[in-house]
Amino acid sequence: MKINLVESDFEKLKSELEIIITDDIENTKDKDILESLGFEEKDESVILLPEIGRIYVGCEDCDYESIAIAISTAIKKFNSTKFKSAKINLQELNLKALVEGTILGSYSFDNYKSNKKKKTKQELNICVEKITEELENTFNISKEIAKAVNKTRDMVNTAPADFYPEIMANIAKKIAKESNLDCKIKGEEYLEKNGMNAMLNVGRASVNESKLIHLTYKPKNAKKKVVLVGKGLTYDSGGLSLKPADFMVTMKCDKSGGCAVLGIMSAVAKLDLPIEIHGIVGAVENMIGGDAYKPDDILVAKNGKTIEVRNTDAEGRLVLADCLCYAQDEIEGIDYIFDYATLTGACVVGVGQYTSGIMGNSASLKREVVSHALESGEYATSLPFNRFLRKTIKSEIADISNLANTRYGGALTAGLFLDNFIYEENKDKWIHHDIAGPAYVEKPWGYNPYGASGAGVRMTLEFLKNIK
Ligand code: BES
Ligand code: ZN
Ligand code: ZN
Repeated sequence: MKINLVESDFEKLKSELEIIITDDIENTKDKDILESLGFEEKDESVILLPEIGRIYVGCEDCDYESIAIAISTAIKKFNSTKFKSAKINLQELNLKALVEGTILGSYSFDNYKSNKKKKTKQELNICVEKITEELENTFNISKEIAKAVNKTRDMVNTAPADFYPEIMANIAKKIAKESNLDCKIKGEEYLEKNGMNAMLNVGRASVNESKLIHLTYKPKNAKKKVVLVGKGLTYDSGGLSLKPADFMVTMKCDKSGGCAVLGIMSAVAKLDLPIEIHGIVGAVENMIGGDAYKPDDILVAKNGKTIEVRNTDAEGRLVLADCLCYAQDEIEGIDYIFDYATLTGACVVGVGQYTSGIMGNSASLKREVVSHALESGEYATSLPFNRFLRKTIKSEIADISNLANTRYGGALTAGLFLDNFIYEENKDKWIHHDIAGPAYVEKPWGYNPYGASGAGVRMTLEFLKNIK
């Protein structure tokens, strides 16, 4: 789908179809037909009137989300026709929502289908009276953001046999080449030499070597330094604490945090952000086998802390522990350190499958992150640490346990585990994003089709855009 911003008198602009988003059919030219067809001004209600070349879609609130859902619904209808071009009048509509809704809503992943849908050469013209610099910027930025989301979705949707740590590292190299980023890839020898035993042990039973990926975007006169760390479990079988069959399917999605970091890194140069940004991913496969790490093992993380393994399925926090230490050891003068992970089922239970859980030590930074997330079109909510939950991950024989001694508050106890690997000077600069809920969509919602959603990408780019 090609999408254009066109300066023209709307009536004069030639297109085969016209898309009309409406929250009130009383004000439409086709009120009578729409009424007789039972059309309602509701999200996802859509009608194609082919004879007169119009698609009507309902919208409930006319906010970002309603507009994005409406345009995505209209585009799907448009895609199902043989018409080549459609136009929409921007008027009061939100341009960001139109662009992102179009690109995100028309995404499909059919790499593994024998009969691939033919990509018809269709185009959408967004018509404005006058193209101002502001409109043009919004248009271009929204396009880059949505493309980064779709890139992330493609990675996450790829089957684990075709996407293991080495492949993830190769994709990182490709992104680095395209965007002129620095790219360092470290293998298991490096992990061993540098005391990254927590990460190393998680990948021990896999035939695929674990990789630490480090991308750097360093523009001249950078205002701030941001580090993004992603959980890149290319597969999470649970390890010896093996997942039940029903819970194992979809665990290719456990690389979503790492893929989000790569997706974000693919956009930062294009968006010309005046910030130094590091993207670090722990790419590992959690498998079973004779050499697997075990419950009862004690691992020594990069910062010297000892970890009692009580459940090999709580592996993400082990990988992140070492990656967070690596980031803080290697990068000086960090302003923000954010991590992204499909870390806990508990977060999905707690806040639902649409929302990311935002954790950290600074209430004001959490507020800022949540507010940018909502602004970007993603759902996120702040979850509060407390001293009592902090005590639940104490271990009798090591410094800390990878499993809490309570059944409750699992998203928070995982976040608190990570806090043990955040150095004193970075405590208030750190945010943990648990994206286990929204990262992978099993029942399509809004403009998200089945499969990966690209959670984390839009909210982070929005945050980065607004760094002062
Ligand atoms: N990757 C899973 C978490 C997950 C669950 C991601 C659902 C996406 C959807 C993680 O590694 C895991 O298995 N966590 C355990 C932790 C437990 C053993 C403390 C969980 O949530 O059950
Ligand atoms: Zn797990
Ligand atoms: Zn996992």
